[in-house]
Amino acid sequence: MVGLPARGKTYIAYKVSRYLAWLGVNCRVFNVGEYRRKLVGAQLDHTFFDPRNKAAIEQRLKCAQMALQDMISWFKAAHSGVAIYDGTNSTRKRRKMIQDTCAQHGIDVMFCESWCDDGELVDLNIREVKRTSPDYKGVDIAKVMEDFRLRIAHYSEVYEPVGGDGTRPLARGEYPLPPTAPALDEYDERLVTYVRKINVGARMVINRVASYLQSRIVYFLMNIHIAPRSVLFSRHGESLYNLDQRLGGDPSLSPNGRKYAEALPGLIEKLLGDQSLTVWTSTMRRTAETAAGLPYKKLSWKALDELDAGLCDGLTYEDVEREYPDEYAMRDENKFEFRYRGGESYRDVVLRLEPVIMELERQQNIMIVSHQAVLRCIYAYFLDIGPEELPYLKIPLHTVMKLTWTAYGCDVQMYKIDIDAVDTHRAKPKAPKTTPANRPPTPPHVRALKREIEPASPSAVSDTWDVDEEWEPETRLELPTPPPA
Ligand code: ATP
Ligand code: F6P
Repeated sequence: MVGLPARGKTYIAYKVSRYLAWLGVNCRVFNVGEYRRKLVGAQLDHTFFDPRNKAAIEQRLKCAQMALQDMISWFKAAHSGVAIYDGTNSTRKRRKMIQDTCAQHGIDVMFCESWCDDGELVDLNIREVKRTSPDYKGVDIAKVMEDFRLRIAHYSEVYEPVGGDGTRPLARGEYPLPPTAPALDEYDERLVTYVRKINVGARMVINRVASYLQSRIVYFLMNIHIAPRSVLFSRHGESLYNLDQRLGGDPSLSPNGRKYAEALPGLIEKLLGDQSLTVWTSTMRRTAETAAGLPYKKLSWKALDELDAGLCDGLTYEDVEREYPDEYAMRDENKFEFRYRGGESYRDVVLRLEPVIMELERQQNIMIVSHQAVLRCIYAYFLDIGPEELPYLKIPLHTVMKLTWTAYGCDVQMYKIDIDAVDTHRAKPKAPKTTPANRPPTPPHVRALKREIEPASPSAVSDTWDVDEEWEPETRLELPTPPPA
């Protein structure tokens, strides 16, 4: 990542990380600020970031190097994957160090810069995110604003946007580069891979993107936005197959399911008022019947159809256990990977949902009316839930879930409509395993934001910076104490 403070680098880093992890890519964020807080301490004022503060410069470099070393060790252990090195990396010199270190270890680098000259947005970011940062624990908001603006001013003095060669046109208000950028050995940023997201995507600059993964990331970055919006999910109302605990099929709603469909417009109106909304359904009868009374534009997606149970479509779990005992047992062993004969696995569903997720990122208010397995996959994307837990998430019938965006993640509020429905959740048979070996530990911020899903009355969970106390940088180094402010 590259950019001045409060430009959404960490926000973008965790979003990309969630997206890639959901697609099955080994991914981890290394946040240099976390290293600084652990190694030098939080609550340092703006003078620590002054480019004239020589002692602090040394310390900041050491923190950056330690994060980089941990990242290299992680690559060695993980063999492949994407690490997001989240710091300001605001000078060519620093970026050259990253490029050179990575080159020595055979790691491809793509710089991702967030550039923004919208002062009001930057102030909003400080107000919303930085004041709850451990850097400003107990500090009043006026002081936070003042100190953080000074921190930004220090960085601005030395900031060099990525790709600077002295010839490209500058965006309005962009800090001009010196007329002839000094050669930094042979490091020429025209030759490196980078993407610059300018003013939250009003303009994107893409340079030398070379690989499939890089282009996926660029495409994702082009689609994400930060405009406030609501995303709602609901399963279809109870179906005739649900009553018999049958899988799949294309049944209609049960009498209670129809009552849910009738009650749904009232709840959505309460949640959204007169805001506009687009409703996405699957191509199956039960979702269309559920959405029928919703007075909004509708779109049906084949990709939102329920997981295809293949040969087992139309059977109950008991039928499957009796008629296909081996498959039944195999599904319990690894539910995420298990593919029904002639049907799909949860992994297959995740992959077919990727365009839905991309479109969801681009859109404003959306309500999805879909199915148990599909909504588990979508839910796991937003809440950063791994393949072990994903297929067992509780997505109850007759409940609307509303996503609320927080600093670096999402929370979910659940609204249960009081109309009886059967429970189609089948619990995980064995004791849950801990984090699978191939999945990196969730970064502290994201971990703090995770919530277990349980049917509940409307609830709001506030954002938190509750950094996991057990988390430690993997490399240790004694640092000199910071100079007095
Ligand atoms: P720091 O360098 O201090 O760590 P940062 O650049 O990592 O700051 P974040 O902590 O990620 O900034 O800021 C989060 C805020 O940035 C959120 O409120 C989010 O809405 C906003 N944001 C997200 N994307 C962008 C963007 N492209 N431009 C500006 N702000 C953004
Ligand atoms: O039982 C309802 C249902 O939507 C079925 O159509 C589908 O096969 C099943 O849930 C998916 O849930 P699980 O993966 O837990 O069997």
